[in-house]
Amino acid sequence: MAYNPTAIKLPDASAFERKITGRQTNLYVLQNNAGMQVAITNFGGYLVGALVPDKKGKLTSVIIGFDNIEGLLKQESYYGATIGRYGNRIADGKFTLEGKEYRLFVNNGPNSLHGGKYNFSYRVWEANQIDAKTVTLEYLSEDMEEGYPGNLKVKITYQLTDDNAITITYEATTDKTTIVNLTNHAYFNLNGEGNEDILNHVMQIAADNYTPVNNTMIPTGKIEPVKGTPFDFTNPERIGKRIKADNEQLKFGNGYDHNFVLNKRGAHSPAATVTGDKSGIKLEVYTDQPGMQFYTGNFMPGTNILRGGVKDKMCTAFAMETQHFPDSPNQPHFPSTVLKPGEIYKTQTTYKFSV
Ligand code: BGC
Repeated sequence: MAYNPTAIKLPDASAFERKITGRQTNLYVLQNNAGMQVAITNFGGYLVGALVPDKKGKLTSVIIGFDNIEGLLKQESYYGATIGRYGNRIADGKFTLEGKEYRLFVNNGPNSLHGGKYNFSYRVWEANQIDAKTVTLEYLSEDMEEGYPGNLKVKITYQLTDDNAITITYEATTDKTTIVNLTNHAYFNLNGEGNEDILNHVMQIAADNYTPVNNTMIPTGKIEPVKGTPFDFTNPERIGKRIKADNEQLKFGNGYDHNFVLNKRGAHSPAATVTGDKSGIKLEVYTDQPGMQFYTGNFMPGTNILRGGVKDKMCTAFAMETQHFPDSPNQPHFPSTVLKPGEIYKTQTTYKFSV
């Protein structure tokens, strides 16, 4: 299929105006001076879509998703969702904190994934659109919600800048010692949604190491070099080049679904850089987090109809979830995800687009 930079519109706001658990949901649209647009809903803190100019200046829809909230309600692949209280898996759905064992909802094989049954992506957040480029979402996750201790007050700020970057700032405080690991699960297709898969996108990840997993996708605890493996993206490489390689880790994940240990963190050196082969649109990810889950949509069911009328087949899009390592609460040598009363959890990730 030829490259078709269809300026698929952002969905109509009315398609996200519902009452869910008695609370109002809406769509919030951010727009910058360069014409980029981003849509966010306070249902689940979903990043619903983003339109950025391609090399001909045509707006291209780079975050895949649905035309209406009903699409979000019936899927389980977290299209653009806010993930919490704990991003990725916790082994056997349990962890021990200050000598006490906590049990979580097991929703992924033997493990707990992305915060459990009614995780943050099911909650209606309190939204406040500050200006044309900024919206905040707030949510109080009560003590023992989904099995996690402590009343956790969470605030997320989505900001669109005039240089076509989406910055997401996560803040949280607790009244009891707890664990927290927040991220966003946007799926990108830089050729524009509806333009086939992402296997020819060119990816670079600033990670010399990754955390291999067992057959239930829990890190083995080892931090292994990527050198000489299909996980080496230290130089730009096509996503699809080695995805079918004879490699146990790729078999466990059915493709890439692994935490990369980022070499550097911060606002000046990208954790990852990806370019759409047809559009030329480049996405740089900046983060202060120690890890990034690179996921090639391997478990997308192929049964959901996305905007643009395409099915959500495997590798339709990819996610780059900046976060702490999976199962950190059970792996004391991984960077800690513990948050104590009086401490402030604050982290920032930027997705910057350019051509
Ligand atoms: C996980 C995948 C999972 C996907 C959607 C990713 O963060 O690592 O295994 O299928 O989220 O839930």
